[in-house]
Amino acid sequence: MNFSVRAADKSRIGSINFDDLQFGQDFADHMLICEYRDGEWKTPEIKPYGPLTFDPSLSALHYGQSIFEGMKAFYKDSSTVHLFRVDDHYERLVRSCNRMVIPAPPREMFVEGLQKLMELDYKWVPNRDECALYIRPFVFGTDPKIVARPADSYLFLIINSPVGPYYKTGVKPVTLTTSPEYVRAVKGGTGEAKTAGNYAASFKPAKEAVNKGFTQVLWLDAIEHRYVEEVGTMNIFFKFKDRLATPALSGSVLSGINRRSVLELAREMGVQAVEERISIDDLFAAQEKGELEEIFGSGTAAVISPVSTIHHEGKTIDVEMKEDSFAKKMRKAITDIQYGKVHDRFGWVTPVKVG
Ligand SMILES: Cc1ncc(COP(=O)(O)O)c(C=O)c1O
Repeated sequence: MNFSVRAADKSRIGSINFDDLQFGQDFADHMLICEYRDGEWKTPEIKPYGPLTFDPSLSALHYGQSIFEGMKAFYKDSSTVHLFRVDDHYERLVRSCNRMVIPAPPREMFVEGLQKLMELDYKWVPNRDECALYIRPFVFGTDPKIVARPADSYLFLIINSPVGPYYKTGVKPVTLTTSPEYVRAVKGGTGEAKTAGNYAASFKPAKEAVNKGFTQVLWLDAIEHRYVEEVGTMNIFFKFKDRLATPALSGSVLSGINRRSVLELAREMGVQAVEERISIDDLFAAQEKGELEEIFGSGTAAVISPVSTIHHEGKTIDVEMKEDSFAKKMRKAITDIQYGKVHDRFGWVTPVKVG
């Protein structure tokens, strides 16, 4: 595919403190930007990262036609960067676009664009344990019109941000509470799509959870308010004595790429790994019977986050944090593939030659 490439005159990398990276605050020298107009995607440009200008009437600001992805690139060695599960991320981007009536950027633009960005900005992929380059592709409507209908024009961008260890002082267990009032998503709504409004809608209940002393919200289904769906911005797993279980994709759960990786790796480890309906009452019952061993979240940002506590309607589940936990084993199994420390027998990694 044809790209128009304009390299930055001078890199900004010297101003970045790689020992103290804050999530999503520094951005690599280059970005990809492509316009959709007159029914087609134009030639993508790769150019220096910088501000966009737009009309106050920009449609995405008013009606939220905006979707994104979140993925990572890892330092393998001085001449190789690893992109993780590119096809899965592209396919989810397409599903998000379809749900929000946004034309999906072509696969080659996504895949080759990422490769070109890595070739230009490979020095921004931190060569440090637990660090990575967080990749943020996104698409939004750009019609300069406050008319409530799908836009005719869009922008697709990819920006990249070096990120440090999610837990700077060692993995910290997450404490969860259900929300008595709010839900994240409802079947038939937009929960399956990675669309901006889902996150905006979650901020109020998330803030209330923090005010009550918890880390994040354990989202329950919107209809019966009984079935567990996700946690904060992660999928959730329960390690029972006889199986590893995660809520089935019910129509309101985001289909996490790490969720998929955990299921595949668990099966490889010989653990029965299932997707099923999990009610909050079943969790309390399992804990009472001593069958609930571990709880953890999975997502691109933190990979695996152990959960120590679930609070629901005045009752609490506490799980013991073990040194040799399954969550820890899973975290290592995933990151070993990401950083190329073990053979990638699943074909999850796209190596990009750099330098
Ligand atoms: C709502 C929600 N659920 C789950 C996930 C985990 O998905 P992934 O493993 O693809 O990062 C994310 C983060 O992307 C999310 O925002």
